[in-house]
Amino acid sequence: MKIGNLDIGEKLLLAPMAEITDSSFRKICKEFGAGLTFTQMVSAEGVIKNNFTTLKYLTFNRSEKPIGVQLLGNDPVIIGEATNEISKLKPDVIDLNAGCSVDKVVANKMGAALLDDPKYISKLISKMVQNSNGIPVSIKIRLGKDKNHINVLETAKAVEESGASLLIVHARTRNDKYENEANWQWLKKVKENISIPVVGNGSIFNANDALRMKQETNCDSVLIARGALGNPFIFSEYNSLISNQINFKVDIKLILSTVLNHIDLLKKEFGEFVALDKAKKHSLWYFKYQNGIKELIELVLKVKNIDELKVVIINHANDILANKFQENNKEEIFSKFYKRVLFWLSDESEEVYSKE
Ligand SMILES: Cc1cc2nc3c(=O)[nH]c(=O)nc-3n(C[C@H](O)[C@H](O)[C@H](O)COP(=O)(O)O)c2cc1C
Repeated sequence: MKIGNLDIGEKLLLAPMAEITDSSFRKICKEFGAGLTFTQMVSAEGVIKNNFTTLKYLTFNRSEKPIGVQLLGNDPVIIGEATNEISKLKPDVIDLNAGCSVDKVVANKMGAALLDDPKYISKLISKMVQNSNGIPVSIKIRLGKDKNHINVLETAKAVEESGASLLIVHARTRNDKYENEANWQWLKKVKENISIPVVGNGSIFNANDALRMKQETNCDSVLIARGALGNPFIFSEYNSLISNQINFKVDIKLILSTVLNHIDLLKKEFGEFVALDKAKKHSLWYFKYQNGIKELIELVLKVKNIDELKVVIINHANDILANKFQENNKEEIFSKFYKRVLFWLSDESEEVYSKE
């Protein structure tokens, strides 16, 4: 797939995810074959006011390229200025968030609230294109407000006509939030109606899902969100699946070395105090489908520092290899992690978004 002059071949994309797609996770996903990663959404106003937290979310390393930066906002002037500022950092794509369904964001007429007015979206995209200094502009949208107000085709046309280089469609409505199954049929219709590249998103949890989305909808690429949590391997699995190479195998040793590397990267990026909670969360995600996850959750919650966490993880991996645990009920675990991404930090998830 080509986004402007950037060619990412057949590779998949890592979705913007608040408090998750930091530099550490982006690096790991790139190492396992993601073609393009995104920062989490950053406030356009925060960018032009040089807000410390916003700028921290924005930071990326040259080695992370290709990378997209995602903006959240609704004022054409502010969005334009923020795009100009961000273009100086030379990301590969600048994206507009028109998909976030979190109540506080929508109440502020940002994110998925923008879907109510495709003409207004046009205005925002035009401003971004005028101010991006040649960097391709993309937008991430949903199907519409709810199942009775699906206007994705109209929005897609407006986006194309205002000069965007890429359209990402999360195949759910704003009302769906994350609960209902994504409706991929709309991706096919969008693809038939516009000529800029279309990236599909929603309910992709393994490499076969991604391939099926591409085949069923003809979309140009696929954006992976929850399917990458604890599973950056999904990118390698997909790349080996489509190139007919020997299947990429994920085993406990690979999971262990990746978690340990991820923990080290987080410590380096955030310092031990902030990194510890993030490292705990990711560690559990990596082991979620392995036997013994319930035992691991108990242990990890008690951990007081990074070194202790590493010891717990190493011992746990050895116990799995020694077949110490009973077989998991895979369906129960899957539905728990699917419904509550941040299951044991669930009260925090709203807060995470509202930081913008
Ligand atoms: C924890 C979390 C944080 C998210 N943060 C963002 C964000 O900052 N910007 C955005 O456009 N979408 C965000 N999303 C939405 C995802 O990018 C994606 O569209 C959504 O999860 C649907 O894909 P999935 O069904 O494959 O998970 C977030 C999703 C999750 C689970």
